[in-house]
Parts: sequence; structure tokens; C-alpha cells
Amino acid sequence: MKHLIGASYAPLDKKLPSPIARADRGLRARCLPWVQRAAPRVKPAAVSSPPSPAPPQPGAARAAEIEEAVRLLRAGEVVAFPTETVYGLGADARSEAGLRRVFAVKGRPSEHPLILHFADAESAFTAAREVPSTARTLAKTLWPGALTLILRRAAWVPDLVTGGQDTVGVRVPSHPLARALVTALGGPIAAPSANRFGAVSPTTAAHVRADLGADVALVLDGGPAQIGLESTIIDLTREPPVVLREGGIPRETLDGLLALGAMGSAPNDTRAPGMLASHYAPRAQVLLVTTQGLAAERERLEDEGARVVVLEAPTDDAALEALAHDLYARLRAADDAGADVVLAVLPEARGLGAAIADRLRRAASQR
Ligand code: TXA
Ligand code: MG
Repeated sequence: MKHLIGASYAPLDKKLPSPIARADRGLRARCLPWVQRAAPRVKPAAVSSPPSPAPPQPGAARAAEIEEAVRLLRAGEVVAFPTETVYGLGADARSEAGLRRVFAVKGRPSEHPLILHFADAESAFTAAREVPSTARTLAKTLWPGALTLILRRAAWVPDLVTGGQDTVGVRVPSHPLARALVTALGGPIAAPSANRFGAVSPTTAAHVRADLGADVALVLDGGPAQIGLESTIIDLTREPPVVLREGGIPRETLDGLLALGAMGSAPNDTRAPGMLASHYAPRAQVLLVTTQGLAAERERLEDEGARVVVLEAPTDDAALEALAHDLYARLRAADDAGADVVLAVLPEARGLGAAIADRLRRAASQR
């Protein structure tokens, strides 16, 4: 099995800066404490108590799963894993076989770059040849979390990860299982969302299995993704920085931290395929309507015999969060129910509403 990518790339332990190599050596020390914390402690039984049943051991089961996942990743296989945004289809970023398998399984063009997932900011910044102060500010406040930073790549980052570009996307996810996996691997995991190219991202392990089936060696089940939308991507190689993809961290949060009024969307840039007009699309046709037009449009479609599913726009922050959390599951459920049309009202573009509206617009684009 090949762990080397390109002539300029050397095995991780030899060439990467020390934080990652240290993480590798500290695999058990760092991974197992988390796993063990998950297992309830057994109190010594008082003499008069009846014998207690054997405690459940989710921690031990998880540790074995993570070990298996690491074995597969090192063997050039792909493993799906939960993050707080959506499920990822992970490969060991040092394994050319694994990286190629990601593109094959996803059906994604090879020039589209992958995000590298790290256990902490210090490790993540080893993928960059320069780290602007904006990156440190954002990382300090928002990592671990739903934010991907685009930075100038370091020499060791494989071309397969960057799509041959001079930049790299890095992120420190907050989901404990994702962090445990990256820590146990001792190096970065390259991962797109675990869906076929162009389709709706998976927010549960069941979605991944339904999409990718036997093509993925192992699916780690960490429950439904907490946020439900992909990470926000910010390009810090431009001045001023540009949001390439709205996502789990609202633009207002970034604006506040970077004090940037001038942040705008990138021009029509296919470097981030999530920015392609048609993306994140269910099989059903997605039609955008206003709240006022909803009832009439629904009636018209149903009169024509169409099966219609409605997504109304939430009005408050809690409801926006709930819609973000459920959006992809609801689009999938519409397909499962055989809907012909999803009639969607766009939420206002504030907070998570911006990312929701973005995904719905793309889902509604002509294919
Ligand atoms: O929340 C997320 O970001 C999830 C989880 C698994 O981390 N990942 C995800 O990956 O959504 P993916 O590949 O489905 O979308 C990542 C986007 C793509 O549109 C890709 O082109 C863009 O990030 N991207 C990655 N590296 C880039 C780079 N160097 N420059 C510009 N865009 C980049
Ligand atoms: Mg994706």
C-alpha cells in the first residue's frame, strides 16, 4: 500500500512538523481518555446493595471502532465519520490510494479540492506555508467548529488534496468522534461530504449508507449532525478575506471578528464546487416561492397531479437552527416519499438563514 504522494512528499513522521508526529505517538494517550470518559464509572457497591448489573461499555466499543477505522484509513480505504456539520468521507491525507478512492466513490472531478481535518489549530497550520493573523484570530475563537480556512499550502500537502492549487482548506471539527479519529490516526483526514457529487449532504449515518452503500468500508455513527449544514469557507489568501461558502458559522460572526464590512461572495468560482449553481439537489424539483404565493402555487401543482412537499421559512433564530439541522433530512424524506416538487420559501439571509437560502437556491437551479 502506498502512503507517498508525489515526489516532493515524504512519510508523515519524517517530514511533518512535530505537533502531528507527537499526536501520532500520543494516540492512545489522547484518544482513550475521551473514550474512557464516555464510559460510566462503576461505583464500588455498598455491602447491603443487591449486585449491580454489568455496566454498559460504549467507550470500549467506540475505541475498537476507531482502531478499525484507523487500520482501514492506513490501508488506503475510505471511512465515513460524523462531524458537527455533515458526515465526511475520510481518507488518510497521506495515502494516495485513499485520496483516489474518495474521488472514485464520490464521483467527483479530481481537480476539486478536499478539506483537511485536524485535531487542533497548531496541527492545522502545518498545512500552510504562511499563517495570517486573521487565521489565528478565527481559529482561536471558532475552532473547533464549522469553519474552513483557505490558506497558502505547505509543500507537503498533496496535489490530490488541493486539486493542484496553491491553497489548502483546513478545519478542526468539534464532533468528539471526528476529533478522536483524527487524533488516533495521528495525521490529517481529507474529507468531502459523504454523498455522491452534486447530491444532498448526509447528516446521519443512515444517509451515508443509503448513498454510498458498500463503497465505504466503515461508517462511524455519531448520531445526527448537530448543525446540519456544511462549514463556512473563508478564503484568507485574499485581501480582504472572502466567504466562499456560507455555512454553519454565520457571516455576521466572521464580520464581527475580522471587522470587515467589505466581505463579499466570491465571483463565479468553480474552485469550490459547492458554489456551482446546481448542487445540494434532491431528485424532486425544488421551486422557490414567496410566503404570499405559496398557497396558490401549491394548489396549482396539486391540481396538475404533482406530489408537493412544503418547506416554510422560519421566523426566529431557534427555528432557523432547527431548519438547518433538518434541511437535508427533509429533502431526502421528500425524495423517499416520492415527492415531485419541494415548494420552498427562502428564509431571510441572516444568521443560519443565509446558508439555508444558499443551499435552497442551488437545489432549485436548473440541472
Ligand atoms: O462541513 C464541511 O465542510 C464538510 C465536513 C465533512 O467537514 N465537508 C465538506 O466538504 O463540505 P466538500 O468537499 O463537500 O466541500 C468542501 C468545499 C468544496 O466546495 C471545495 O471545492 C472547497 O470546499 N475547497 C476545498 N479546498 C479548497 C481550496 N483550497 N480553495 C477553494 N475551495 C476549496
Ligand atoms: Mg459536499
